[in-house]
Amino acid sequence: MIQRQIEVALGERTYPVYSGTDMVSSFAPMCRQHDVSDSLVLISDRNVASLHLQPLLRNLVHYKFQPRTIVLPPGETQKNIYRANSIFTELLKKKVPRNSTVIALGGGVVGDLAGFVAATYQRGIALIQVPTTLLAQVDSSIGGKVGVNHPLGKNMIGAFHQPVFVWADTDYLATLKPREVICGFGEVFKYGLIKDARLFEFMESHLEKILSLEQDAILHVQARCAAIKAEVVAQDEKEAGIRIILNCGHTIGHGLEFAGHYTLLKHGEAVLLGMAAESSIAHEMNLLDSDSYRRIMALLRRIPVKAKLKKLAVSDVLNALGRDKKRVGTKLRFVLPVGIGKVKVVDDVNTALIQKAVKNLMKD
Ligand SMILES: NC(=O)c1ccc[n+]([C@@H]2O[C@H](COP(=O)([O-])OP(=O)(O)OC[C@H]3O[C@@H](n4cnc5c(N)ncnc54)[C@H](O)[C@@H]3O)[C@@H](O)[C@H]2O)c1
Ligand SMILES: [Zn+2]
Repeated sequence: MIQRQIEVALGERTYPVYSGTDMVSSFAPMCRQHDVSDSLVLISDRNVASLHLQPLLRNLVHYKFQPRTIVLPPGETQKNIYRANSIFTELLKKKVPRNSTVIALGGGVVGDLAGFVAATYQRGIALIQVPTTLLAQVDSSIGGKVGVNHPLGKNMIGAFHQPVFVWADTDYLATLKPREVICGFGEVFKYGLIKDARLFEFMESHLEKILSLEQDAILHVQARCAAIKAEVVAQDEKEAGIRIILNCGHTIGHGLEFAGHYTLLKHGEAVLLGMAAESSIAHEMNLLDSDSYRRIMALLRRIPVKAKLKKLAVSDVLNALGRDKKRVGTKLRFVLPVGIGKVKVVDDVNTALIQKAVKNLMKD
């Protein structure tokens, strides 16, 4: 049942994010409602396909759609141009026509990769996002950023390609590993911190319920985050301005991920640690008051992140920061919290402060 519908307002390309529980039987009728073509390409990964592909396929076939399926190995390493090319080859061999629609059934990796394929195959075909991880339901499936990694940088090759709609059935989350729930929570925390003091309070009072995926709590959180992302994207689709605020915690987070060769830490874990470090920088710069800082750190400490940070060298993290996409000239760009629910873009953070914040992370 669809319980929430949030619009991403982008003029002619406005689209809804549907969320709720037990939604699979309504999927194909919703595709019909959106005039989706009969020819479909369902792209998923093995983990998701083994758990969740069949019910969706059955529903589509029942409503006379013609879905082809492509099932990929799971994992971030698949998000590359070679994998995209192997999908192009399959689509071309099967003569998949231009009026087809790609359905991305999976987490952020499948969403970004299948979305990139949809954005570029025959100069772009339609896309539906069916996110199955918490991270993808609150963040990556909304907003149209699609792409693949390059050996010289993550997400460096990509496009903006908005979906026809996003289908966030929170029932999918029940099969996630606890570590993936924590990763998704990293982005949830970010939304509270950057824009929503009430969501932050909700996290303070309902953390255990959220992490154990209690239905009402998770639906509330998912819908709030989707609404914030929709609002930010509607204001700044191509990240020329305010969309940068979604990178809170990500400057240091990306440094940690890179220094750990993308294996030691998962993205959401790195973002949680990044928000701790960036909050401490904000506090030291007198941008963030002590009470808010204490609340941020207290909530972060309650989240069981199991990353082995001690294996990282501070110098590797600092070097990695120098490679960040968000650099302006020689300076690093930070999105720092200046209260609960408020952030500020800051380009002149003292290097010694950054060093100290990263060192402190390693100590904890
Ligand atoms: N496009 C954007 O705006 C945006 C934003 C944030 C992150 N991202 C990207 O998202 C990616 C991370 O996404 P992710 O954390 O969802 O990773 P992921 O897609 O790799 O999924 C994590 C793991 O969970 C498995 N999985 C997925 N759904 C499942 C389910 N319902 N039950 C059981 N297992 C399931 C997957 O097979 C995988 O092993 C990164 O590549 C990141 O760059 C993109
Ligand atoms: Zn992120």
